[in-house]
Amino acid sequence: MLKKLLVFALVAVVAFAIVPRNIQAQDGGTTISCGTDQEVTVVVGTDTVGTQKELMLEAYDEFMAACPNVTIKALDLPESATDRISLYLQFFEAQSSDIDVMLIDVIWPGDLAEHLVDLAPYMSQEVIDSHFPAIIQNNTVDGHLVGIPFYTDAGLLYYRTDLLEKYGFTAPPATWQELTDMATTIQEGERAEGNTEFWGYVWQGNSYEGLTCDALEWQWSSSDTRIVNPETGEIEVSDPAWLAQLDLAASWVGTISPPGVLSYQEEDARTVWQQGNAAFMRNWPYAYSLGNAEDSAVAGKFDATVLPSGEAGHGAATLGGWQIAVSKYSQNVDAAAAVAVFMTSAEQQKHRAIVGSYNPTIASIYQDPDVLEATPIFGSLYDVFVSTVARPSTISAPHYNEVSTLYFNAVHSVLSGDQDAETAMSLLELDLAELLGK
Ligand code: GLC
Repeated sequence: MLKKLLVFALVAVVAFAIVPRNIQAQDGGTTISCGTDQEVTVVVGTDTVGTQKELMLEAYDEFMAACPNVTIKALDLPESATDRISLYLQFFEAQSSDIDVMLIDVIWPGDLAEHLVDLAPYMSQEVIDSHFPAIIQNNTVDGHLVGIPFYTDAGLLYYRTDLLEKYGFTAPPATWQELTDMATTIQEGERAEGNTEFWGYVWQGNSYEGLTCDALEWQWSSSDTRIVNPETGEIEVSDPAWLAQLDLAASWVGTISPPGVLSYQEEDARTVWQQGNAAFMRNWPYAYSLGNAEDSAVAGKFDATVLPSGEAGHGAATLGGWQIAVSKYSQNVDAAAAVAVFMTSAEQQKHRAIVGSYNPTIASIYQDPDVLEATPIFGSLYDVFVSTVARPSTISAPHYNEVSTLYFNAVHSVLSGDQDAETAMSLLELDLAELLGK
């Protein structure tokens, strides 16, 4: 009996010594969980687009001030989502612990789930329920919450209110054809006045994930089809209205859009726009606060709205957005999860909405007066944000990234004039059928 007791006591002492305990720290009125009382370093894959890096570093400092035992190190991520997933796959393949926390795109939970930690046990049900249920569902794979929603995204049409007025237009374009005509008129007028750098419409035409987003908006607004049908798994890339829409988009290259648009990502379009050299831009909400910043030539001269309609009779906004995930190969999962929980909290989301116009994933923040004052589109475009079109990632998992790569390469070949839409899409259909075993 005594021996048994001794063994029990020894086990208890050892367990107490080796199981890292949590620290709860105070930050203003909020309690932060540090995840551990050990000295640890957590490496966080950090965004470099727009104001994102600045905002993320600010949050790391706040966390480290509350939890001095945790050091957060930023690992700069490439700007392109396509390059980011290649980087992550390299880390995962090597089961590397060199990255603990990472931003994952809304399209990746299904593709990356096997490498990610279930974060639900680190959160209260109340906090989980405060996020948009569709995003929680999107991020839940086989019952595991593999990413906590960080911000959501939706494609928008930015337009110059001053130039619309100058050229006698009373409203932004309702259809893609109208956009083409208005952009042509404004571009001709501005060039005639001496601005030879001026373009009608800038968007994302590089062959990468961003082009899948732009093209899906053309496709859904013209034909109500979306690459792979999310319910039936049928491949849907050949609707005639979509083919005509894609040919129209190809006609923009070198006319209302610069030839270089074929290598544009978000930041390239935003640079031209913010220099005052475009009438219209397709971009995400983050461009709203930057467009109104002091150094922007278009501050106070633009607004944003839903993208134009095609044959289907409605516009479309692709659902984007990022989640914070923790790698299974991390050696500090508890601290990493604490960082993920902190970064996605309502306080952080509100701050990011005000300073960077990053869309919260917590519905109640859209009613916050400070948020609405700083970023009025969160009120005026709320309906657009909640009626987005999702890329077919869940139905294609774990092959979504391959599906998208085939799609954006095919679309790019049409935009660059290598093939017409009909040829490119019929070849794409064969490639997708082979990939998805149809
Ligand atoms: C934005 C979106 C993301 C999308 C990417 C494409 O970051 O939030 O979902 O995949 O743009 O460039």
